[in-house]
This record gives sequence, C-alpha cells and structure tokens, in this order.
Amino acid sequence: MSKKHIIYRRSFLKSLLGLGYTLALTPRLVFAMEQSPIKKKIPSSGEALPVIGMGSWQTFDVGDDAQERANLLSVLQAFFDHGGAVIDSSPMYGSSEQVIGDLLKQVSNKKALFAATKVWTRGGKRGIAEMQRSMRRMGVEVFDLMQIHNLVDWETHLETLKTWKAEGKVRYIGITTSHGRDHGELEQILQNEPFDFVQFTYSIANREVEKRLLPLATERGIATLINRPYQGGGLFRRVKGKPLPPWATEFDIQSWGQFFLKFAVSHPGATCAIPATSKLRHMIDNMGAGFGRLPDTGTRQKMIAYYESV
Ligand SMILES: NC(=O)c1ccc[n+]([C@@H]2O[C@H](COP(=O)([O-])OP(=O)(O)OC[C@H]3O[C@@H](n4cnc5c(N)ncnc54)[C@H](OP(=O)(O)O)[C@@H]3O)[C@@H](O)[C@H]2O)c1
Repeated sequence: MSKKHIIYRRSFLKSLLGLGYTLALTPRLVFAMEQSPIKKKIPSSGEALPVIGMGSWQTFDVGDDAQERANLLSVLQAFFDHGGAVIDSSPMYGSSEQVIGDLLKQVSNKKALFAATKVWTRGGKRGIAEMQRSMRRMGVEVFDLMQIHNLVDWETHLETLKTWKAEGKVRYIGITTSHGRDHGELEQILQNEPFDFVQFTYSIANREVEKRLLPLATERGIATLINRPYQGGGLFRRVKGKPLPPWATEFDIQSWGQFFLKFAVSHPGATCAIPATSKLRHMIDNMGAGFGRLPDTGTRQKMIAYYESV
C-alpha cells in the first residue's frame, strides 16, 4: 500500500468516526493534493464528470428551518470540497431547489457545479414556467442539465428543450425514471430521440437496467445518471453488522456505502451516481467512492455474490 493511501485511509477513518468537519478537512486536503476524482465522459460532448454526484429528494426539502439549513450547508460544502459536481433536483422535491439555491450562495469552492433539475408538469406553457421558476430557485442562469421527470408529457417538453438547447438556455437534455414499468417506453424513446442523458435506478440489488437500458445508452452515446444507488437506504439494512469482504481494500473501499457506489459506477455504461444524504459523515463517505480504484468485471461478479451471501 502506498504512503498516500495510508494517509488517506487514516484521516478518512477519523472523519467517519464522527470527529467532525475539522478533521474531515484532512482527507479533503489529501484528496485535493494527491488524488483526483474518478471522472467519466458525457458521450455527446466529451466533457468529463466526477462519478459521484448527489441527489436531493427528501434530504434537502427542509424549508426555512435554520438548523437543518446550517447542517445542509456543511453537507453541501463537503460535497464540493471532496470533488463533487453533479447536483440533481426536481420541482417535485418540495423546497429542495430553493434550499440548494440559497445554500449555493454560501458555499465556496463550487466552480465545478453541474446543476441538474427536471420538468415535472403537463403542457408546454406550464413546463416553461416551471423550468423558469427552477432557474430562479436554484439561482442558475443556464442549467447544465434539464431532465423530463418520470416521462411526464415528454413529447411536449422535448420540443421546448430542443429549442432551449439550441438557444443556449440548457446545456444538456435528459429524461428520467425510477420505475421498471417505464423501461419499455423509455427504451423506445431513447432509440429515437436525441437525449444527452438518461437517469434510472441501478444498484447491486436492482440490476434490471443491465439487460437493455445501460447497453442502449452506451450504443446511442447517452450519459447515465444512476438514481437510488442505495435503494433509498434499503441496501444498508441487509449488511448491518456484516463485515466487508477482505478484498474490498484492493479497490479502496472503506465502507458499505463505498462498496455499493463503486459497484454502480464501475458499470461501463454508468456515468455518475447521485446518492442522497443529509448527514455530513455520509456525504464524506459517499464522496470517498469517487476516488481510488474501481472494480473490474470479475470483481463486480464477486461483489454480487458476496452481497447476496451476507
Ligand atoms: N424519477 C426520478 O427522477 C428519480 C427517482 C428517484 C430518485 N431520484 C434522484 O436520485 C437520488 C437518490 O435516490 P434516493 O434519494 O431515492 O435514494 P438513495 O440515494 O439510494 O438512498 C438515500 C438514503 O441512503 C442514506 N444514505 C446516504 N448515504 C449513506 C451512507 N454513506 N451510509 C448510510 N446511509 C446513507 C440516506 O440517509 P441519510 O440522510 O441518513 O444519510 C437516505 O436515507 C434522489 O435524491 C433524487 O435526486 C430521481
């Protein structure tokens, strides 16, 4: 093991032990000075994104609660300090867009921000009004990525988004689901329409998209955002109290969270996973999955077998 890995592991462990953000600065510095986040390219442009982003469903829907906002400010700061870029939100997530927008004004080190939200309504005019409101809420003049949420009225919004992309109001356009029942229709859409991104669920316990959607995205040159990489937190229940396999350290995996995230983003068709958390120690844990070595095909099979055996 190299000296840099030993330093990283020791300080990373301290931060996970809940010693707070002061000590968490140590891994940040180590990250910044000695490691670069793993990145993958958006096929339609060649732009590279860090493989770990963040979601915001429930976790950032805290309204005006000052205490919750102060906590989330440290979570968001840790995201950027540990090499984060992609933030995924939606008008469906209550106050999340507004909370993110307000907190973004207060965080530093956020040059890498890749702001993504969704349109989630019916009708062209309503869609435009909603997207303009999202821009105001998140404080974003040009969204990096605008996605059609859960396929809702997708034909209407796609027409608007094609125009907006041509006019430079959004950089990339995408479409999302988290439901297996949408996969057939989504496949048809991706076959025929010019999306830059698609977002769907993929985790070690839900590998449905390996069959068709991930290969199709690769074939069509579409970047993928992986939602629910922890199955909404459910994956942790199965492994509670169970040790990681000894070979996990060969892939710089220090926790079950990193085991699950490295599984998701090591699929060749996966571009970026967007786990959600409202806890600082979990954010630091999640961001750790974006560094070091990624499992290869053989190891991915071993990960599935190990997970299913515990
Ligand atoms: N159709 C769509 O477009 C769609 C659908 C679903 C999701 N999404 C997007 O995908 C994002 C992620 O999905 P999700 O929020 O449903 O589920 P998820 O990211 O799979 O799981 C979130 C849960 O995991 C816990 N957690 C996070 N990091 C952890 C760690 N390191 N150790 C232990 N527990 C951890 C969180 O609790 P704590 O807060 O306690 O850490 C939270 O309860 C969403 O937030 C949203 O942005 C999009």
